[in-house]
Amino acid sequence: MLEIATDFKARIIEGRPVPELKKQVLGMLFFEDSTRTRISFEQAAHYLGLKTTNFAPSSSSMNKGETLKDTILTLRYDRLNGLVMRHRRSGAAALAAKFFEGPVINAGDGSHEHPAQALGDALTILEKKGHLSGLKVAIVGDVEHSRVARSNAWLLSKAGAEVRFVGPRTLLPSSTANLPGVPYYDLASGLEGADVVMCLRLQKERMLEGDLCNPNEYAKQYQINRTTLKYAGPDVLVMHPGPINRGIELDDLVADGPLSAIAAQVENSIFVRMAAIYWAFQDSKAKEKSKKEKILV
Ligand code: CP
Repeated sequence: MLEIATDFKARIIEGRPVPELKKQVLGMLFFEDSTRTRISFEQAAHYLGLKTTNFAPSSSSMNKGETLKDTILTLRYDRLNGLVMRHRRSGAAALAAKFFEGPVINAGDGSHEHPAQALGDALTILEKKGHLSGLKVAIVGDVEHSRVARSNAWLLSKAGAEVRFVGPRTLLPSSTANLPGVPYYDLASGLEGADVVMCLRLQKERMLEGDLCNPNEYAKQYQINRTTLKYAGPDVLVMHPGPINRGIELDDLVADGPLSAIAAQVENSIFVRMAAIYWAFQDSKAKEKSKKEKILV
């Protein structure tokens, strides 16, 4: 997928053609707010020649009590060819895939997974560091509620990186036994020698009252700024999936400074989403052929 994304990126930047998935209509189902994910999927679809149709839950028949299952079935019989879906519930995209009978791309489900975000982050790290294997990656902050943390931890550990989860006990999962990362409750030791620091947003909308009493208290102990970055390696890459709570997870000087890869994360998300859409619309034979022959386009 990263190879396909790299190829698409070069083609778009150099003005060379990319494959066209004409006559395909992609439904954009965002049951939760989004800026980056929605726009980059729209842009990716546009580059690949697909049409998109937006489904707005707030003005749909779900307001009259229609279930998610019936909504997905309706979109299937309306002959949409694929769906991009964000939902506040973990597992919602898997449920949609069961009833839609076509490609459903998960654009973030609850605190479960955000796979295309992790792909864009991996592409950004690859471009900046040249490799993923052997890197020490510190994922800092609200891991408990973060789909970005989970998808990155699975992807990066599979690619041979050492993943650390850094944050207060209230914001790290009570057991990390089922996750591929080691917990650190102290920022200095969690960041020691880190090649990549990935900050997470404090996801207040998913927190139970009392999980975090005071964001300023969090900032005092876990904010990434020029002082705390000294715990990490000298060429550390600073990342954040956005949206940022500026002055809480990250200070302005680091967010907008030379070590920040945040702009590259946003741009690369277009190309990995092109790769995801392209891959999802290939039939299984074509997938096997591109895998074997490394023919990307
Ligand atoms: N990173 C991310 O998912 O951002 P949005 O919520 O703006 O899509």
